[in-house]
Formats: sequence, C-alpha cells, structure tokens
Amino acid sequence: MNQPRNILVTSALPYANGPIHLGHLVEYIQTDIWVRFQRMRGHDCWYVCADDTHGTPIMLRAEKEGIAPAELIRRVHREHSRDFAGFHVEFDTYYTTHSDETRHYAERIYAALQDRGLIEARSIDQFFDPVKEMFLPDRFIKGECPRCHAKHQYGDSCEACGATYQPTELIEPYSAISGTAPVRKESVHYFFKLGECAAFLKEWTKAGHLQPEAANKLDEWFRAGLNDWDISRDAPYFGFEIPDAPGKYFYVWLDAPIGYMGSFQHLCNRVGLDFAAFWGIDSQAELYHFIGKDILYFHTLFWPAMLHYAGFRTPTKVFAHGFLTVNGEKMSKSRGTFITAESYLKEGLNPEWLRYYYACKLNGTMEDIDLNLDDFVLRVNSDLVGKFVNIASRSAGFITKRFASCLGRFDAAIDVFQEFVAAGEQVADHYENRDYGRAVREIMRLADLANQYVDTHKPWEIAKTVGRDADLHAVCTTALQLFRLLALYLKPILPHLAVQAEALLQTTLTWDAAGHPLAEGHQIQPYQHLLTRIDPKQVAALVAANTSNLAAETESHSPARHAEHQLHEIHPIAETITIDDFAKIDLRVAKIVSAEHVEGADKLLKLTLDLGNETRTVFAGIKSAYQPDRLVGRLTVMVANLAPRKMKFGLSEGMVLAAGPGGRDIFVLQPDEGAQPGMRVK
Ligand code: 2FM
Ligand code: ZN
Repeated sequence: MNQPRNILVTSALPYANGPIHLGHLVEYIQTDIWVRFQRMRGHDCWYVCADDTHGTPIMLRAEKEGIAPAELIRRVHREHSRDFAGFHVEFDTYYTTHSDETRHYAERIYAALQDRGLIEARSIDQFFDPVKEMFLPDRFIKGECPRCHAKHQYGDSCEACGATYQPTELIEPYSAISGTAPVRKESVHYFFKLGECAAFLKEWTKAGHLQPEAANKLDEWFRAGLNDWDISRDAPYFGFEIPDAPGKYFYVWLDAPIGYMGSFQHLCNRVGLDFAAFWGIDSQAELYHFIGKDILYFHTLFWPAMLHYAGFRTPTKVFAHGFLTVNGEKMSKSRGTFITAESYLKEGLNPEWLRYYYACKLNGTMEDIDLNLDDFVLRVNSDLVGKFVNIASRSAGFITKRFASCLGRFDAAIDVFQEFVAAGEQVADHYENRDYGRAVREIMRLADLANQYVDTHKPWEIAKTVGRDADLHAVCTTALQLFRLLALYLKPILPHLAVQAEALLQTTLTWDAAGHPLAEGHQIQPYQHLLTRIDPKQVAALVAANTSNLAAETESHSPARHAEHQLHEIHPIAETITIDDFAKIDLRVAKIVSAEHVEGADKLLKLTLDLGNETRTVFAGIKSAYQPDRLVGRLTVMVANLAPRKMKFGLSEGMVLAAGPGGRDIFVLQPDEGAQPGMRVK
C-alpha cells in the first residue's frame, strides 16, 4: 500500500431551485465511489459539497412561491440532502453557498484580485425590464432570432438554427418575466480581467491537471481569446453584496466555486482540520473537482485564475464527465425519462442498481453515458443477482446447516484464489483512473471464475452423497472466500450490499486484508437474501410516474446547468394551494364576443370577453388550436381577478381557462348550457 494521501474532493454544487434527477446522480455517484475507494485504500479523503443558492432564477422562484429565498433554499437543502442520502452519497459536509464562510472567502478573493489590479469597473448597456424593474439576464430575454428569424428565442442563442448572439441583437425582444419590451439601460459592472491571466492559464493547462480532451477544448478557447468576465449583477439579486459597491452583487458563478472553500471551512470548524493545509499556496494535499463537461470553462479558466491570483493553491485535477442520455435520447418529461431521485426511491427501486449500472458505464472520459432502461434491467439482474449474489446463496446455506456456521480448511495457494488476489491491484488502478467500467468488467470476470468453480464442484450434489462432508465443507468455504473478495472489490460501488456481505461473513471488507482469507473455524451468520431482481414492471412504473404532459416540454441534457437556463416558467407542476388560496380566484363565465389574430404574435389570439356587465380584453396562447372565428359566440371560463398584465401587444385583463398538452390539442373550457356571462363558477 502506498503512503497515505490527504485528499479533498468536491462535486459540482447543484442549484437550489430544482430537484436532484438521474442526470445529477451520474456525478455524485461517480464521486462517491471514488471517495469510498480512496478511503478503503487507507487515504484521508474528505468529500464536500453544498447547494448553489444564489442568482436570479432562485430569487424569482422564491417570489413565485411567495416565500423568501432563504426559506426556499432551506427547503431545497433538506430535499437534496434526503435524495443524496437515499443513493448512499455520503458527504463529509453538505453545506450552502449562502453562508458566512463562503461570503468570507468571496470577499477575500475579490479583494485580493482588486489588489492585483485584476478587477475593472466598466459601464455597460443592458436590457432592463421596466415592469419588473430589474436588469434581465440573457436567458430571460426572448425575441426573434437575428439569423433565421425564428420567434421566441432566448437572448443568447437560437434553438432553431444554433446561432449565438448578444441579446441586444434579438428582433422585437421581450422580457420572459413580464412579457414587456425591455429598455436599454446603463449600469456599472465589475470585470475580472481574465485576458491578463492567459499566460498563467496556458502553463497551468499543460501541467497535467486536465483530461486530454479537456486540454484540447482549452486550446480552442485560448485561440479564440479570453474575454474579461463580468462578475457583478445589479439589485434586485439574491446573493452577496459586493463590499463598497452598494446595490451590486457577486454573480452566482463567482461565489459558487468559492462555495467549495466555504463548505470545507465549515467542515474544518466542525472536525478541527487545518484549512490552509488544503488551500494554502504550499499545500501538499490533493484537490479534485468532479464536474460536468458543460462547466469546464468555469473550473479550468476562471477558477484556477481566481485562486492563483488570490494567493491560493489550484486544483490538482479537474475531472469532467459527459451528459446522461436515457434510451439514447435527452432526458424528456414527456417521455418520462426526466426521472427525479425522489421518484426513483419512492417507486421502490434499489439505489444500488443505479450505482452499479452507472459504474458499468463510466470510463473517466468526457463521453456521454446512456442509461438504457432495458439494458439496466438485464445487466443488474444478470451481473449482481445472477453472478455475484448467487455465489453466496449457493454456498452459505450449507455452511450454516451442515457445519454449524463454521468455515472449513482453505488452501489460499489455489490458483483461483491467487488470481482473485492478484486482480485486486488491477481493479484498484481502474478505480483510481475513474474507469469503473473496466473495474466492473474485471470483477465480473472473477465472478464468472467463481461460478465456474461452484458449477464444477456442484456442492448441491456432494451434499446428497454420504461421506463427502469434508468436500462439501471445502467447496463451500472456497466459494465464500471468493465471494468475500468480490464483495470487497465492489464495496465502493455497492456500500450497502457490502455491509450485508460483512454481516453474513462476520468480517470487515478492507483492501489491505484482500490476501488474507477468513480463518478455518471462522463463524458466519445465516444467509439472508442479499439482493432482489429488478422487475421490468418497476421500471415501467417509474417512467409512468415521471411522465408529464402538463406543460411545455422541458428537455435537458444533464446535469442541468447554467443558472439562467433554469427559467422559473418551465416548472410544470404547480405547488399545492389551500382552499383559502383557491377561494381567492374569481372564476366567471365569459362569452367570447370577438377573437382576432395579433400582428407579430405566433401563439396569441386577442379575445374580447363579455362578463355580463363589462367587457375585457385577454390575450390567450391558443392560436395553435383555434381559428378565431370558431371561438366567437362561445362561452368559456375566465379568471376575472387576475392582475392586468402589460404585454408587448397591449394590456391583458384576465386569463381564459384551457387544458391540453399544447399545439393543436388545447381545449378552451366550456360551461354547461344555461350558463350566463358573468356567473360565478364554483
Ligand atoms: O451548473 C451548475 O449546476 C452549478 N450550480 C454548478 C456550480 S459548481 C461550483 F462551481 F460551485
Ligand atoms: Zn435562428
């Protein structure tokens, strides 16, 4: 065994405004396996993470829910912690970026960068929502693509033609929050002069901190030139106010990685570790960040530059992984493959099935990995139940029933056992290199050998032959000795199953004891069922439980990334409301007296509604389903007390109720015959 190492490991901090899903878990499971492996090898390995709590989407989400951001992030923190624990992802600390510790390091790093002359104030011109009274992040501005003229594209890129542009280039831009046309407004922002860090970063990139494909990506970025980075946002913003700059806040991506430090400081305070020994410029400790490939820029350019110029050490390595696809496609709510961690556990699926499947697929590169749901069932059932657990279930029972639970004599020199022991270092290398797929293949090759051993010696037949007790004892003992090594090698991936195996074998599975078999006379516990098979019906139920056609399709590669991408408008399931909340909604029968197309709007119709004693104008997003003349004269139901909303096309004075998945299938609700305009709907 090598010298013990001091290692600090992080996974990317998930945003505090959405649930953990199977895409996120690729990263957390991958990291957790690595951390467990390092500890089994005798190293001091600390694993920290936190919720990423700042930014506009979180502020707006809280506002929409009618709660303070602090309350939202407290709730999400509980949910995230529950989900990670459910998948046996064990952090030393799972903290929050909204903490004194993170604020402390954010201010300190910012001040140090200022002292180095790397922060510059500049006045910039941006879109401002005059109704919401806030500057709009790019993703909150929509409009017509300047290149292909597709409507309703985001302010940074067009989903129709892939063009990227500045939000100011959009044709007829509007705010995704209020629907109004934004105005241009000047404001002072603070920039981190990344361009001045280029020489350092080029050196750093070549110094072995990155996977080869990540280093290639960085070369592309260097060739394109490094732009200075806007690290401030104007109020209103949920985050840390910048010292001596009232109304200006650190951009969420400035304090997010600093959250790694904040979280670690929190751990230091709790367990008495020395912060500087891990983050100081002379630190001998190793620092690893596991991230998704979509946030490479932040972790391999901004972050090392910030650390270096603020006088801290830089990461030993940044490990980037690919996205998750399910059945070969992006995760999709309409297909039921945008699966939350919570639903997976609620539907009764075993978290270790997923841990194992991901391990089979991971190879330490930035390639995407696919969760093929049929293959998931086959692989887990065949490998874990059919090969691994089978060895114990075919041998432990005889030891208990026929030999008073005591193991027999065992010759450690036999080839198969020696091969198992020798393979341990190979397996360890694969874990170290995060090539878990190879580790698993090697372990399953050994499992095949163990099964061949059992098949050849047929303990169930020996058991029926009088006078062959010694043979039976020897064969079953050997099988359990082999099973012990398989359980040991799988322990980083299957920690819970390993605990059950330890209980069965009455031993602790440690790597340095790999070559030491259990002694003759060692007592085991009666065999208890270790793992059930996956029933494909469970997977079908899981997909059904995650299938949603309630809202516009939200598709995402995973892990879902950049804050601005997480628009508050895309969450399809409404929060529960009380009967009192419901009573506040004034629903009225309304008669559609006219319906017209709206110039320049490709989803809206302008409706004039008769409410008995007044008429209202409402813009309704039902154009894809109705010709205007089909609506005239119909009765419908409207929300009569909705606050009027100023839209680009005029004032909308209520909302018409309709249901359906979208497109041509939107159905305006109609009351029964006899209803009269103005009647209250109960
Ligand atoms: O992309 C994301 O989900 C970010 N919340 C990751 C932040 S990682 C680190 F920098 F904090
Ligand atoms: Zn376009």
